[in-house]
Amino acid sequence: MKNKVFLFMLVLVLGILAACGTAEKETSTGSAGSETDSTSDTTTEEAKVLRVGTSADYAPFEYVDTKVSEDIIGFDIDLANLIAERLGYELEFTNSDFNSLIPGLQADKYDFVISGMTPTEERDKVVDFSIPYYETEQYMVSLKESNIATMDDLKGKVVGAQVSSIQLDLAEEFGAEHGFTVESRDLIPQLIQEMKNGRLDGAVIENIVSENYLSQNDDLAAFPIEVEEPDFKAAVFQEGSTLKAEFDKVIQELIDEGKVEELKKKWFVVE
Ligand code: ARG
Repeated sequence: MKNKVFLFMLVLVLGILAACGTAEKETSTGSAGSETDSTSDTTTEEAKVLRVGTSADYAPFEYVDTKVSEDIIGFDIDLANLIAERLGYELEFTNSDFNSLIPGLQADKYDFVISGMTPTEERDKVVDFSIPYYETEQYMVSLKESNIATMDDLKGKVVGAQVSSIQLDLAEEFGAEHGFTVESRDLIPQLIQEMKNGRLDGAVIENIVSENYLSQNDDLAAFPIEVEEPDFKAAVFQEGSTLKAEFDKVIQELIDEGKVEELKKKWFVVE
């Protein structure tokens, strides 16, 4: 009888220990981001969800075509989805103003950002960039009727650019040189709107985005701006993120396989 009680106790204790062990394992793998779903007992694997920040004011890279749906679509979104598919992640996009994307990464609101963002020395101090997936150029956009064809035509006028963008820095440099003042706006469509209602005389916007507006607005014109620094685009991560290495590998694969080229054909009005 005593033996039986002892055996029973032993089994009980072992059982409790085993249960603790599993519970602990579950929480630790859970927080480490295991791909297995620890909340269910089934063996189905659920992809880890990555939180993605983007500023969807930037057709054809990231935008919402409200006539069609509320979804964020575009070149960057397709690219992010291709990368995630290969790495076995699921993506959850959040639309946010461009100037809040880096603070959002720093505050751990996003696992990564894709938003046509250009790696710069200053940004590199607080976040990490993937290898570049695209290179672009800059345009000065204005109303056709104002006949602005060179930087000097903007003397004494007001030029806009997006807050926190490299275009704002460029506008300020050129403004100092050619005698125009610079104002910033949160979103790209506001720059276009403000030119139409006469509050801005020009706007510095990258060529692919500009061409998109030019193709849809007969009243707009643009000329290319000569700049020294190349404007690359890259995905952005929290500093030290292990995602960088995973993304770099897949981005290189997608470039080599011509997949990035296919996306350009799909989304850009010019190449
Ligand atoms: N490439 C520029 C930069 O990094 C502008 C990017 C703006 N992106 C956007 N989704 N509005 O500063």
